[in-house]
Amino acid sequence: MAGDSDSDTPDSIDLADAYAVKTPEDSRRLYAAWADSYNETFITANSYVYPRRVAELFAEYVPVSGYTDVIDIGCGTGAVGSFLASLRPELVIDGFDISPEMLAQAAQTRRIDNSHVYRNLQEVDLTSALPNQIYSAMTSAGTFTHGHLGPETFLRLISLIRIGGWFVIGINAEHFKARGFAETIKSAVLSGIISQSIIRVVDVYETGSPHHGDKANICIFQRQN
Ligand SMILES: C[S@@+](CC[C@H](N)C(=O)[O-])C[C@H]1O[C@@H](n2cnc3c(N)ncnc32)[C@H](O)[C@@H]1O
Repeated sequence: MAGDSDSDTPDSIDLADAYAVKTPEDSRRLYAAWADSYNETFITANSYVYPRRVAELFAEYVPVSGYTDVIDIGCGTGAVGSFLASLRPELVIDGFDISPEMLAQAAQTRRIDNSHVYRNLQEVDLTSALPNQIYSAMTSAGTFTHGHLGPETFLRLISLIRIGGWFVIGINAEHFKARGFAETIKSAVLSGIISQSIIRVVDVYETGSPHHGDKANICIFQRQN
């Protein structure tokens, strides 16, 4: 992958490198090399609109009152948090990510009043550790994808949200199919852990992007038990 190769520069890292990730160590290496240029060479260059769609669906479904503390899973450079903070300025947003370099970028994001977008940013490998804070809502974009987080992590993360709390979680549509997310969600519903999930299929990249056509399933549900 690009993060490993002598011939790659941070500017040449792209989506293929992200999809080639297989382990948390691969993620650490890739995003360490990509963090400084990620916003420009990935978000802007590819018209990556997925974080905005997650934030918009959060604003559409999650009531304003009673759901002010949010955890952004795999927050990266802070795109989801930035959109959320502009749509819902009252939100207190924390971010978890495995990459200290991506977190350093997220720490620079600012709200319209110049305060920080994120209250706390924590370095954590979510495939093996689970922070013990409890939140009233969870968001994520671009992190439940090939080689990153799978359905077993998705299930474990439910316990970070209080009963009645909301989830607005994007899952890459191919990864959703290949890794059996539908069955995981179905069994969590049947066992009473979560409510029926609304799934909104969205474009990850805008029309005109070299990757236009890739889809994500944004799953919206509440913790019940
Ligand atoms: C494609 S980026 C998405 C970042 C941001 N949410 C966005 O939409 O721009 C995926 C993020 O997942 C993080 N990540 C990958 N594996 C992880 C793990 N095991 N635990 C926590 N974060 C992880 C990466 O460091 C990276 O910041």
